[in-house]
Amino acid sequence: MLWSGEAPGWPVVLADGPVVLRPYRRSDARAWSHVRRINESWLAKWEPTPYGSWHELNSPATFRAVYADLRRSARRGTAMPFAVCVVDDGRERLAGQLTLGNIVRRAFCSAYAGYWVDSRVAGRGVMPTALALAVDHAFRSGGLHRIEVNIRPENTPSRRVVEKLGFREEAYHPRYLHIDGAWRDHVGYALTSEDVAGEGGLLARWHRLQAAASSS
Ligand SMILES: CC(C)(COP(=O)(O)OP(=O)(O)OC[C@H]1O[C@@H](n2cnc3c(N)ncnc32)[C@H](O)[C@@H]1OP(=O)(O)O)[C@@H](O)C(=O)NCCC(=O)NCCS
Repeated sequence: MLWSGEAPGWPVVLADGPVVLRPYRRSDARAWSHVRRINESWLAKWEPTPYGSWHELNSPATFRAVYADLRRSARRGTAMPFAVCVVDDGRERLAGQLTLGNIVRRAFCSAYAGYWVDSRVAGRGVMPTALALAVDHAFRSGGLHRIEVNIRPENTPSRRVVEKLGFREEAYHPRYLHIDGAWRDHVGYALTSEDVAGEGGLLARWHRLQAAASSS
């Protein structure tokens, strides 16, 4: 599908139950820095090799640079960078990030998804819900046809996220990305809009799977 608009489907706020996806705000700096800093041992082993200390790279000042960069990419239509929030007791708390990045349009209409959550909300299905919301939006309003996720083979929690949602395992990429100090192999998963069109979308599929799991 070809698009005349520069950034179809952006900005947007998406929600399902306690999970809210929204664009970052400048005022997220302190919350972002705090959650990133307290999660160093949880996140660093899965993230691009840092070029400085974790503390500095996750400061409020760094956030402001990251924010400006993400906002530019989003306006150009090359990324949909969502802040992932969780509503607890009526309060919305920044709990992670989900970015559909490297968006290429024309004949490809594809994006890579990257994500993380605060370890304090891990295991509650936050990221599968967030990914399902983002994928449905990307297919319905973002002009995209395919979403790809590349994961280190040993990252079982992340592989579970895409496997539970029914992404297809498509590729093995040796020494694909420089993560945590070395070139790391990745397993490539993907989903196209046809895969979920007949099921009412990926979120509907995820809800059905959760309902089936809780009734068995
Ligand atoms: C990968 C990640 C985003 C998953 O998010 P999530 O919201 O916890 O996803 P889920 O609730 O569906 O849990 C996924 C799996 O995590 C594991 N898990 C569950 N609770 C957990 C906990 N408290 N701590 C660690 N892992 C847990 C389980 O294997 C679970 O799979 P299951 O549902 O089949 O049991 C999260 O683990 C994370 O941020 N990890 C660090 C960063 C990262 O790996 N990013 C992805 C790089 S490709």
